[in-house]
Amino acid sequence: MRGIMEQAQQKRIVLGITGGIAAYKAAELARLLVKQGIDVQVVMTEAATHFITAATMQALTGHPVLIDQWQDDKGMAHIQSSRLADAIVIAPATADFIAKLAHGLADDLLSTLCLARDCPLLVAPAMNKQMWANAATQRNVQQLNADGVLLLGPVSGVQACGEEGMGRMLEAEELARDVVGALQNSDALNEGSSSLTLPRRERELSGVKILITAGPTYEAIDAVRGITNRSSGKMGYAVAQAARELGAHVTLVSGPTALPRPQGMQIIDVTSAAEMFEAVKRCVTDTDMFIAVAAVADYRVEQASEQKIKKSDAKLTLELVPNPDILAYVAALPDAPFCVGFAAESENLHAYAEQKRRAKRLPLLAANLAQRAIGAEDNELVLFDDAGEHHLPQADKLTLARALLLHAATLYKKGRSQ
Ligand code: C5P
Repeated sequence: MRGIMEQAQQKRIVLGITGGIAAYKAAELARLLVKQGIDVQVVMTEAATHFITAATMQALTGHPVLIDQWQDDKGMAHIQSSRLADAIVIAPATADFIAKLAHGLADDLLSTLCLARDCPLLVAPAMNKQMWANAATQRNVQQLNADGVLLLGPVSGVQACGEEGMGRMLEAEELARDVVGALQNSDALNEGSSSLTLPRRERELSGVKILITAGPTYEAIDAVRGITNRSSGKMGYAVAQAARELGAHVTLVSGPTALPRPQGMQIIDVTSAAEMFEAVKRCVTDTDMFIAVAAVADYRVEQASEQKIKKSDAKLTLELVPNPDILAYVAALPDAPFCVGFAAESENLHAYAEQKRRAKRLPLLAANLAQRAIGAEDNELVLFDDAGEHHLPQADKLTLARALLLHAATLYKKGRSQ
């Protein structure tokens, strides 16, 4: 990041800290913003002072921290601070503070300042996954979106409470990049204009409709037995999350997995390949990009027994019929969306993967070694497209998914502009 002082007159932001454990990340965020040449005025809620001290924030920013609405001599700190700011950034924003913002409440200095502002408001939510998933929080977040507030995150990951899920605040470095980007955007927008409304950030896949299949499928043999595979669904879910982070409208068709349900997308639960196929056929007409991550069972028993088959000493022969290839079907549609395939191979990765890409006529295919990928947290991908191979080195699945989606976004846009 280049210091934005080099590009414009000094920017001033109000950094609002509310009472959550992620408040410790606000110290690093303040440090990074100050390093960028931004003048940072910290305003804390009373609850935030239980998580991080005002002395820390004062030392990092060089300004006394504002907490109390009545602490300045005229009681006008809210008007003064918001008048001077180029943006207000709330990091972390608790569920409670988001609720206050959504309803226009102003019962302490920070919320009053937000209501009195004449500048963009950026909000970085941080909370436990249940609080984030709660219908009330989701309603409030939608309201903030509608009000033109820019939401930064949250992301999914391990939480302070030890659980894993959506609600973790973005890291300080990511937030600093977003804040600097927003300040630059609003400069560009406001040239020759008196409006200070922040533009909705254009993300790489803003508004693109993406349909994703994930997880295994389960093909019943009888009432209790079936054929499946060892796919955990982690890669597909990571792809769905990465797509959503990049601004896409995501529909996730998921086979049976034990994973927490991701937020902010439509999820269609299916069990068998036939059900997955039906769901995809229903959705594909309104899809710009199709990413087939699911490990679809290749065969099924043609007529599954409704009752449990009784065990005996005799041999049992099951006749299997092939399942439809969902990706091949979609890729061959006359008005096919941009299709991305996955291939898990146990040997000859490069040759088999490229063969598969050509056979299914895919612009992009991501390949991995099955023995490394299945069930693991980390993976390693090789992307195949018309330009050749691109190696994505070993990383956690979400990092890989983000890199894959950025690559797909570039190809997708290139295809559309031709
Ligand atoms: O099984 P195969 O290696 O051919 O899978 C390659 C790609 O095709 C994957 O993206 C997978 O999700 C997709 N596929 C599918 N329907 C099938 C088999 C595979 O969509 N029946």
